[in-house]
Parts: sequence; structure tokens; C-alpha cells
Amino acid sequence: MYFLSLKLRFEDTLVRNNKEKWIFLWFFTHLFVSLSAKTMKQEERWRRRYDEVKNFIETNKRNPSKYAPEERLMVNFLKRGRKMLNAGQLADPRFTQFLELLKLCNRYKRINQWKSLYNMFTLVQLPYAMEALEPAISAQTLSFHHGKHLQAYVDNLNKLLPGSEYEGMALEEIVRKAPAGPVFNNAGQILNHELYFTQFKPAGEAVQGPTGELAAQIEKQWGSVEAFKAEFEAKGVGLFGSGWVWLSADADGSLVITQEQGASNPVVKGLKPLLTFDVWEHAYYLDYQNRRAAHLSALWQIIDWNTIAARYGR
Ligand SMILES: [Fe+2]
Repeated sequence: MYFLSLKLRFEDTLVRNNKEKWIFLWFFTHLFVSLSAKTMKQEERWRRRYDEVKNFIETNKRNPSKYAPEERLMVNFLKRGRKMLNAGQLADPRFTQFLELLKLCNRYKRINQWKSLYNMFTLVQLPYAMEALEPAISAQTLSFHHGKHLQAYVDNLNKLLPGSEYEGMALEEIVRKAPAGPVFNNAGQILNHELYFTQFKPAGEAVQGPTGELAAQIEKQWGSVEAFKAEFEAKGVGLFGSGWVWLSADADGSLVITQEQGASNPVVKGLKPLLTFDVWEHAYYLDYQNRRAAHLSALWQIIDWNTIAARYGR
């Protein structure tokens, strides 16, 4: 009898334990299935959103070769994000960027927000018409120089920055910190060209010749503006290969003319850049061919000395 009761109790415990086991098993299976379904639903939403954005871009911009650089970059970011989504790399920090981007470009018109998110650089707008600087710089040269050469530097830098240690830095900071190489070259050329293009005005509007403290400092150091111009031009003509000649100020306000090779800028030497002549052939070859000196001499007519004085800021 005693053994029978023991047996019954044992069987009862077994049955109860089994029941609990089944309840636990049912609960965890249900939890797993619902979590997986939720994740799949979420991923499906992301995929759908990606397709919507992609369709929107494709219908509004039929020819990808006509994409503005930021649009091209956006498409590349989206493709990269979609690949990560497909590969299940949802923990990748770049995937979070992809999701933010999806949110922003869900309405494509919010492109400016997208640009600021990725701190992209854009092509500086010319404050004058393409033919406004003729005859010193022809419309054809200006259009290639600004629209093709500078645009290429902007595009290249925007491709190089995402994920790099320079992402989010101001242009000058990148130029000061980046070692010789593609980031430095493209950032340097953007900074150089921005200062170059914004120092000009049409000959009739440009303030001819320095004034105020800048004029006094030039006369103090060179004796006359003409002597300064002669040295500046000579250093431009004498620069071997591609580069820039600069007038800069040091921390005490003293002026210095430097020759910078390639993409370099005086900020690398701790100087404040004021005035520059681009002596890369792309700046003058269509108009002047090999006559670099003639081109440099013509540039004085379109230098706006008000802008140079404002940069000097003393
Ligand atoms: Fe240039």
C-alpha cells in the first residue's frame, strides 16, 4: 500500500512537472516567434522604406549621371545600408546612420537636413556671372575651373570622409590635421579655391588697390604696392609645377608671401590666408596657354581689395 501511494505520488509529480515543462516550452516558443515576427516586420518596414526612397529618386532623377554629388552619395549610403540589412549587420553603427538617413530622405526635399547630418561639403557659389571676370578669366575657363575641377575636389572629399576620423571636421581643421594624401589634397584644394573664387569681382566693381591698415602694412614691408605686386607675381611665375602663391598674415599682422605646392594652404603653417593666385594650368591654360605671367598680371584688375582687407581684419 505504501509503495502504491509512493508510485502514485511519483506519477502525479511527473505529470505536473511535464505540464509545467509544456507551459514553459509553449511560453518561450511563443515569445521567440513573436520577437522574430516583430524583427521581421521591422526589417520589412525598413526594406519597404528603402524601396520607396529608391523609387522616388529614380522617378524624379531618371538619369543617375545627372545626380548632384549629394544625391549620388545618398544613393551610395542607401545601397550600403541595404546591403547591411540583407546581411543582418544590424548592430553595425553605420546601420544606425542608414536608418537616420532613411527617415530624413523619406521626403527627398529634406536633403539639406541630410547634408548637415553627414556634414557634407558643397560647391561654393560664385558671387558673379560666368562672363563677369572677362578678359582676365574667360567664362569658359571659369566654368571648367569651378564647375569641373572644384566640383571634382568636393565630390572626392565627400566620398573620402564618411567613416574617417575627419568626418564632421571643418574644412580648415581637416587641412591642418590631415597628412599628405587624398584627404589633404581634396580638402586643401576646396579651401584654396573657395578663397580664390571669392576674392574676385568684375573689373568695374572691384576695389582697386589696398586701403587702410593693409595698405600701410604693405608699404611698410615692401615700400610700395607696386613692389609688392612685382614680388607676388614673380613668386607665382617662379613656382615650379602646380601650386599657389599666397599673401598671408601671421599672428602679429605681419605679411608674408609664400609659394605652396600642390594643394597646400598657408593655414598649415599657422598663417591667415588673404590673397592667392592659382598657378595650376587648369586656371589659365584655355585662355593663356603657357603664358602664366600674362595671366597673373591680368588678375590684379579683378582682385577686390575690400575682400582682402576684410580677411586681414585689422
Ligand atoms: Fe584651380
